[in-house]
Amino acid sequence: MPPALQSRDLDDGCADAAPELLQELKHDGSILALAVSDEHIFAGTSKGEIVVWSLGTYQLVQTIQAHKRSVLCLLLSSDNKYLFSSACEPIINVWCPKTFNRLFEIYSTYDVGDVFSVAYSAQHETLYLGTQTQDIQWVSLNDASRKVSHDSADHPDKRQHRFFDSRAVGGTSTPRRMEEHYAMIPRAQTVLEIDPGAIRQYAHYGWVFCMTIAKSPTVLVDPDEEVLVSGGGDGTIKLWRLHDDGPEGDDGEKVKGDVEELMVLGEDDSESVMSLVIDGSFLYAGKLRGIIELWDLDTKQKLRVIKAHDGNVNTLRMRFGLLWSAGTGGSASKHSTVHYGRDANGGSQNVNQKYQCLNRWKAHDAKILSSAVAVHQNDQLFITGANDNEVRVWRVNGMPTQADDGSDIPEDMMITSLREFVSFKTVSARPEFTEDCRKGATFLGSLFKRLGAQVEMLSTDGLHNPVVYAKFSGKLEPVEKRKRVLFYGHYDVVPADLKGGNWQTDPFKLVGQNGYLYGRGVSDNKGPIIAALYAVSDLLQAKALDSDIIFLIEGEEESGSRGFQDTIHKHKNLVGHIDYVLLANSYWLDDEVPCLTYGLRGVLHATVCIDSKHPDLHSGVDGSSMLSEPLSELTLLLSKVKDRKNHVNLPGFYDGILPVTQEEELRYDDIASILMRRNPANGPVDVLKRSLMARWREPNLTIHRYNVSGPDGSLISSHATANVSIRLVPGQEVEEVIKSLKDFLRSEFATFESDNSLTVRIDNKAEPWLGVPGNYIFRTLEEAVMRAWGPVAGDESGAVALPKNATSDETAPKSRKPLYIREGGSIPPIRFLEKEFNAPAAHLPCGQASDSAHLHNERLRVENLLKSREIFSTVFRKL
Ligand code: BES
Ligand code: MN
Repeated sequence: MPPALQSRDLDDGCADAAPELLQELKHDGSILALAVSDEHIFAGTSKGEIVVWSLGTYQLVQTIQAHKRSVLCLLLSSDNKYLFSSACEPIINVWCPKTFNRLFEIYSTYDVGDVFSVAYSAQHETLYLGTQTQDIQWVSLNDASRKVSHDSADHPDKRQHRFFDSRAVGGTSTPRRMEEHYAMIPRAQTVLEIDPGAIRQYAHYGWVFCMTIAKSPTVLVDPDEEVLVSGGGDGTIKLWRLHDDGPEGDDGEKVKGDVEELMVLGEDDSESVMSLVIDGSFLYAGKLRGIIELWDLDTKQKLRVIKAHDGNVNTLRMRFGLLWSAGTGGSASKHSTVHYGRDANGGSQNVNQKYQCLNRWKAHDAKILSSAVAVHQNDQLFITGANDNEVRVWRVNGMPTQADDGSDIPEDMMITSLREFVSFKTVSARPEFTEDCRKGATFLGSLFKRLGAQVEMLSTDGLHNPVVYAKFSGKLEPVEKRKRVLFYGHYDVVPADLKGGNWQTDPFKLVGQNGYLYGRGVSDNKGPIIAALYAVSDLLQAKALDSDIIFLIEGEEESGSRGFQDTIHKHKNLVGHIDYVLLANSYWLDDEVPCLTYGLRGVLHATVCIDSKHPDLHSGVDGSSMLSEPLSELTLLLSKVKDRKNHVNLPGFYDGILPVTQEEELRYDDIASILMRRNPANGPVDVLKRSLMARWREPNLTIHRYNVSGPDGSLISSHATANVSIRLVPGQEVEEVIKSLKDFLRSEFATFESDNSLTVRIDNKAEPWLGVPGNYIFRTLEEAVMRAWGPVAGDESGAVALPKNATSDETAPKSRKPLYIREGGSIPPIRFLEKEFNAPAAHLPCGQASDSAHLHNERLRVENLLKSREIFSTVFRKL
């Protein structure tokens, strides 16, 4: 199940500030629809009335009995000529918004049930209706051939109504409500019968809740061309091209008008679309449970999903460069939009900043069902209608916003997201944090979702933390042409021990200090994940994401990636074909020179145990030369595994290791000399080079800790264990090393002729990884790094000019290539992902050497975070 956006997501920093309430207009029925002209407010009620108030004075002007049942939709044509009304009945009315005369009565010969929505195209002089029977119908107001007499036999009043009047066998039909009001509905000047051919059946596989007309909202249509947009109970949004001529009807006559499906958005979502609004090529869709989605109609990509309200978003309006929304929970909000402030702030403003909630306030203690926006004299008005029978008029100009509350510029959303991410104690190694890990995964899932990804939580077998899968779809068509990039990361962190007072700040609270962000996991690996995520979001909003980007973010990396391989293998079809694997989970060699990592060591962790048949014993009472002591034997045994020079004594251990090539030698010389030049204390140069080689291309064995049974004191513990790890390099086969470790320990232990028993357990293992520095993904990364970081100051050796077309600036500074480095650390899934998807991997280190990953006061430089976002953006765009 993809994570749902939670109520807690409403805690989005949106200011809780209500605008000035200018008027409350009371009536005696729920307000289901609202429209405003220059002079009037029109409210459609549950009693089938349209109530009209004067806009400036708020005097009641008139109450029109407009329909027999609840009015569901009111729409004023853009030229203010017509006011359309639809209701829970198959009749649509057209009113003059000045005289309130009923100009047209329109009916369909189909049983359409309720008509939830209408849209009017001035270009085609055609009215479109969206119905409960899942179809879209249309009629041209000036089509004389559709005129019928007032007492036409096909009028719904004369027909049985399947939906409402069906009689069960032997039953009676329910009496119609408000029979007495029918007579008050004014007679229409003209009656139009919709052509039975003017229908698009199953326009949605659900009720057609909302529709709107938009002028050229996508590059797929001509400039100025009007298209119809509809939203349905099936959760999809559709764009329809409008034609003046339709297919031939049964009578051989051509039907006037047609709609042709142009685009479907949101197939895999089943939540009803309740409201729609268009802003240029952007579409906002109000859905159930408070969700508002932002779609780009040029690229067909979902850019953002926000949880705006508790309750359903039945109404959305776009005006004053802002998005206005209200929910059935009673709240209303104002949001900045993608276009908002574009000119004022220039193009450099962070696009993610542009669509966010600015104000939210309790507008009614009831379900808000409708809204309208208007300007009267100098007042900007947002008007809400609810089932408390009230229309409320809010004056929204000059209302306080988030940015006015003293904090000046709102924080970059990327930092806000990282702050929240860090607050989850996602420590995989400690069972007491299991719950926190799940919450962290859910948070991450809903963040991906909010930024437009399709998300799934992949549960691992056993009780391990889930893998978060998130897919962002590129815009390139057909789908087969898209490159598919897999970004791997981990949301789990190592523990942060507060003992000893080593942390200067709370490790699970992001703190910014002197250009750094402090907190457990900021560098390893939460910061880089967030940078990659926002890079994708930047590209989506810039309409520049061609490729599919798939994120696999696991929660067990720091514990040896338990369950990862099986889970990914099981969901191989979901992940699909992959062209490149990218990760960002290491550091530069110092704090200055950007690097690219092309190799990691493998690792195996083992626990060696020696157990006695006796319980814990007293060393004075029981200890003697006749007793085999587990800890003494363990010490003796492990002392045989490596010698004083750290040479590992396992037979054949060094046999497969690749010899140093000339090219490699030069690379190490280069790296050592650069590090030396920047900081001579790193030297002498040959020692530095030896050290890098030993850490990156040679194996090593570490004894981490000993554990014994029983309390402290003069004990001979009955059990003694040691944790041992071996770092492995290419040429060493993990399974062979495991076998030789076990054989070696067993045969050495046999020589002890001990009464105790030995067990060797392998806790986890990871293969070494060696990438190919010259391949396409590394070259792409290299160029992106050079572009983002510019020239390496004080170093001209190895300097290369950016490619000619890289910049229009002829005097572009020469930029040094990033250092190609290997690392001594391990990331279990890398080699696995390469093999599983037959795709090359590359590794961008985001952090600096001084990041203190795994140590106290872990940090990441803000500049590194921002540049990494930039680099990912370039790489995701170019790959
Ligand atoms: N990011 C590190 C790996 C790393 C460290 C890469 C230093 C490059 C330089 C990763 O999160 C990690 O800590 N890995 C563990 C894996 C182990 C638990 C199987 C490691 O290397 O010990
Ligand atoms: Mn780590």
